[in-house]
Amino acid sequence: MQAIEINGLRKLYGTKVALEGLTLQVAQGEIFGFLGPNGAGKTTTLKILVGLIAPSAGEALIFGRSPRERAVRRRIGFLPEHFRFQDWLSGSELLSYYGHLCGMGAAQRQARIPTVLALVGLDGHGDKRVRAYSKGMQQRLGIAQALLSQPDLILLDEPTSALDPLGRKEVRDLLRRLRDEGVTVFLNSHLLGEIELVCDRVAIIDKGRVVREGPLKRLLQGEHELRITLDRIDGEVLAALAAFGEVRQVDGRTLALQVPDVGAAPRVARCLMEKGYDIYGLTPLHQSLEEIFAQAIKGGDGWSS
Ligand SMILES: Nc1ncnc2c1ncn2[C@@H]1O[C@H](COP(=O)(O)OP(=O)(O)OP(=O)(O)O)[C@@H](O)[C@H]1O
Ligand SMILES: [Mg+2]
Repeated sequence: MQAIEINGLRKLYGTKVALEGLTLQVAQGEIFGFLGPNGAGKTTTLKILVGLIAPSAGEALIFGRSPRERAVRRRIGFLPEHFRFQDWLSGSELLSYYGHLCGMGAAQRQARIPTVLALVGLDGHGDKRVRAYSKGMQQRLGIAQALLSQPDLILLDEPTSALDPLGRKEVRDLLRRLRDEGVTVFLNSHLLGEIELVCDRVAIIDKGRVVREGPLKRLLQGEHELRITLDRIDGEVLAALAAFGEVRQVDGRTLALQVPDVGAAPRVARCLMEKGYDIYGLTPLHQSLEEIFAQAIKGGDGWSS
């Protein structure tokens, strides 16, 4: 059974179409990155997944059941995009309040709260008022709140936007640890570098539908590029390289050659040397997630792998 199964999801706000036939699956125990430009429909999808709003058409299932069922919601932890805490409470009081809301008993809360505070690096800060927390500490508290009831699935809407680089690394390590314990993580973020470092699979959405989807490793290796620096670049070398793939950019004495397979590198090198060019550099490069994102959004052709 999938942790999340979304079929033909459509959501209208009045006449505004926010989701237009969104379909995707998230397997249990994976870290899934959900990406898209502003207004693409990410938060709307998350709100449907936690049962806060209802879809106009289509369905979203969590562990095979509707997120509007109480029993399913108990298995979900959620960090909303714009959370505002009751900041007159201390961190521990706030967690206790949220634990109470999701049906945890007093003893259970007392045992669990120090554990989650430690998990997010807020050890020793539980007695401070939330008002006195920095932005990053508040975000950590939000993640602690999402983990409180030991959920099987956590949905995080921009969980690291306020964190410094070390804090982001700590959250990445935490997400990996959770994944290794079998928790499914659904991560909504604009920080593509973060997504690239931690996610197993990603979906890129635009205008309410999936435009690209797949295992991150496969997306990143989908296209290969050789970056080549020579003693000179002229028409002859451009013509010779065109036999291997598309020459994308020429910058001084460096060019980028798109090749279907990085295994072409030795053949390219041999060809260049035979023609009398001196090679100063020849490096295979992978596409970054940012480049893939830019292409998927620009293309917007509904292609999905
Ligand atoms: N309550 C609402 N009423 C009307 N329109 C809404 C409402 N919520 C969202 N929208 C619209 O639906 C679309 C999708 O919004 P959503 O918040 O899901 O996008 P998002 O991908 O989370 O964007 P961001 O990256 O900016 O957070 C946008 O065009 C937005 O203006
Ligand atoms: Mg959003």
